[in-house]
Amino acid sequence: MNICCIGAGYVGGPTMAMIALKCPEHRVTVVDINEKRIAAWNSDELPVYEPGLDDVVREARGRNLFFSTDVNGTIAEADMIFISVNTPTKTYGVGAGRAADLKFIEKCARQIADVAKGNIIVVEKSTLPVRTAESVRRILEGCGGEFTFQVLSNPEFLAEGTAMEDLNEPDRVLIGGEQTPEGEEAAQALVDVYAHWVPRERILTTNVWSSELSKLTANAFLAQRVSSINAISALCEATEADVEEVARAIGTDSRIGPKFLKSSVGFGGSCFQKDILNLVYLCQHFGLPEVADYWEQVIVMNDYQKSRFVRRLVRTLFNTVSDKKIAILGFAFKKDTNDTRESPAIYVCRDLLEEQANVHIYDPKVKPAQIFADLGQAATDADGKANDSIIIEEDVYAACKDAHAVAILTEWDQFKTLDWQRIYDNMLKPAFVFDGRNILDAAALRKIGFEVSGIGRV
Ligand code: NAD
Ligand code: UDX
Repeated sequence: MNICCIGAGYVGGPTMAMIALKCPEHRVTVVDINEKRIAAWNSDELPVYEPGLDDVVREARGRNLFFSTDVNGTIAEADMIFISVNTPTKTYGVGAGRAADLKFIEKCARQIADVAKGNIIVVEKSTLPVRTAESVRRILEGCGGEFTFQVLSNPEFLAEGTAMEDLNEPDRVLIGGEQTPEGEEAAQALVDVYAHWVPRERILTTNVWSSELSKLTANAFLAQRVSSINAISALCEATEADVEEVARAIGTDSRIGPKFLKSSVGFGGSCFQKDILNLVYLCQHFGLPEVADYWEQVIVMNDYQKSRFVRRLVRTLFNTVSDKKIAILGFAFKKDTNDTRESPAIYVCRDLLEEQANVHIYDPKVKPAQIFADLGQAATDADGKANDSIIIEEDVYAACKDAHAVAILTEWDQFKTLDWQRIYDNMLKPAFVFDGRNILDAAALRKIGFEVSGIGRV
């Protein structure tokens, strides 16, 4: 088959690299309108940092994996077209701040309608509101083009930072199709792709609507676990219970399970917030306000957790951080990714800047330009003078030197093995550490002389 994937982002790139690696007889071309991104996929510095991704791309690229800006040409030759474009929260008009913005999806559908040929299978890989396949079908049908088609839903469950492992050994692959002979045949063609490496019993087939809705539901459930444990972390801080101990105690109950119980400064990433907001909007749309309110509370709790972290930091630093140097360790929304979308670090830094602190930020994978863009500030003013309230440090020890406090905002492994004695020696005293990820050995740091605040522990 000729497989085309529209959208060379965090999902399209890694997913298609894995399909190309496992299915050498298929030709996989990933297309994007973003020329810089495609150039990066064709270079030695990929636009997405993901452990293990470089090796897979190196093996398959040029063999049966291609990255191109020729969107129309690739669609015209494709038998199977994955749509993997972004579906961010709408920022304008009806549903602003909640509904998913489907303009990129619609553009893809219209482009497919204009140029596709033969018998094609269109696969929704992007995360979409339930019943989007209906709109895609109507656009494809309405064009009277020279092709027949089936629309499948095949949501992606990979998490960033572990994408290659998740793709290589998924808990399940979900394929939703129309329950007609043609729909079942199309679903089988996609099952056959995954069956190259995924055990057949882990490939679930459902109707299209269940598949679309399952993706939003999975993210809502995962985020709800994080918000639930974060809610308990606030109570722990008030009562001298330790949230790490509570999480271990409840996680060993096999009905609850140990995963996604790590209390933190708040969840980030491009998916959780947007997908829950999307679910909330759908519930409101279908006249279910109680259901909408129930899920919205997961976001409310997450916002509370982020602002609570800053309030606690300011309170501990004698109620002012004005003109103080705060070292921020980690800016990505989680470890092992260069992605900063909805990273709690953005909100924490903005609040600290609002309090007139100077933030010195160190992250091993995030580029300085990305950090300035996320914080809505320029690196230099009109006269070329450097921004002196946001300093991006290449060296973690320089970030901490003469700081009043260090805040850990991403759980990068390297932060656990820093020379904390050296950091302490070079900081102002009292030296404070705010461990927003509960990754450090608080007792060892206290022995050095630090004053340590974790999340949900005193
Ligand atoms: P992304 O922003 O990294 O990539 C999307 C790409 O699509 C961009 O490079 C953009 O230029 C391109 N694009 C947009 N419109 C286009 C068009 N008309 N033609 C060609 N290219 C076009 O987004 P992402 O993180 O890869 O997410 C994609 C989808 O997958 C979203 O719906 C998201 O919810 C879902 N998803 C994401 C993750 C994740 O961890 N990031 C996991 C599962 C599902
Ligand atoms: C999520 C889903 O896990 C994935 O299945 C889906 O396909 C896309 O959305 P992702 O956002 O990449 O993946 O990362 P995830 O591991 O889910 O973490 C999301 C956020 O929650 C991160 O900020 C992470 O630090 C935080 N988190 C996660 C916690 O604070 N505590 C936890 O126990 C787990």
